[in-house]
Amino acid sequence: MTRVLILGANGQLARNTTRVFLEKTDVTLTLYLRRASRLRNPDPGRVKIIEGDVLDSGPLRAAMQGQDVVYANLAGDMARQARAITDAMHALGLKRLIFVSSMGIYGEVPGETYRSALDPYRDSAAEIEKSDLAYTILRPGWFTRDKTVSYRITQKGEPFRGHDVSLDSLSDLITKLATDPGLYLRCSIGVSSA
Ligand SMILES: NC(=O)c1ccc[n+]([C@@H]2O[C@H](COP(=O)([O-])OP(=O)(O)OC[C@H]3O[C@@H](n4cnc5c(N)ncnc54)[C@H](OP(=O)(O)O)[C@@H]3O)[C@@H](O)[C@H]2O)c1
Repeated sequence: MTRVLILGANGQLARNTTRVFLEKTDVTLTLYLRRASRLRNPDPGRVKIIEGDVLDSGPLRAAMQGQDVVYANLAGDMARQARAITDAMHALGLKRLIFVSSMGIYGEVPGETYRSALDPYRDSAAEIEKSDLAYTILRPGWFTRDKTVSYRITQKGEPFRGHDVSLDSLSDLITKLATDPGLYLRCSIGVSSA
């Protein structure tokens, strides 16, 4: 059974993906977040909740013990967070990382120049890409609450297509990435609704 650690587990997309993991897969989850009292355990048989900051290496490494997949759903100082995560994964010998970034980090969205607002996303992606981890970086479009699950993928180097993507589509993709070890390995993929 796959063990997945979710970093930033109180984030909007992380909460949606926790639900989809529990509904559609048999993985066990460790939810890592600041101020853990905000989150109710949805299934104590399969879910463990750990309080911690990604920038605190002790708790982060303790949470990574025995995990198969790390799924990072963060915001803020993402370059520092990415370094903390890759360092901890190297120290523990973990390989598989799913990291949520944003569309636009390579200037790949036709007609858009997001510039400095995306620096943390750009810098964190660069940090991960230079590692030897089995990473998948997601570059989603704007999130919607549309219940349709459909997405199209663009690879790094291709223009981003589309604009929005539903939370449910992203969660579906993340659960597939976590449970299929060969999917989009060492890829940075644009994701939008088809
Ligand atoms: N919304 C969109 O349309 C859209 C589009 C493209 C990309 N994105 C990006 O996709 C990512 C995920 O989106 P989301 O809506 O799930 O974001 P979100 O709701 O803002 O969640 C981000 C989470 O990161 C956590 N976090 C930040 N620093 C942390 C640290 N040092 N240690 C532990 N946790 C930390 C925050 O925790 P606290 O709750 O403790 O602050 C928060 O729960 C974000 O980076 C977002 O900018 C969003």
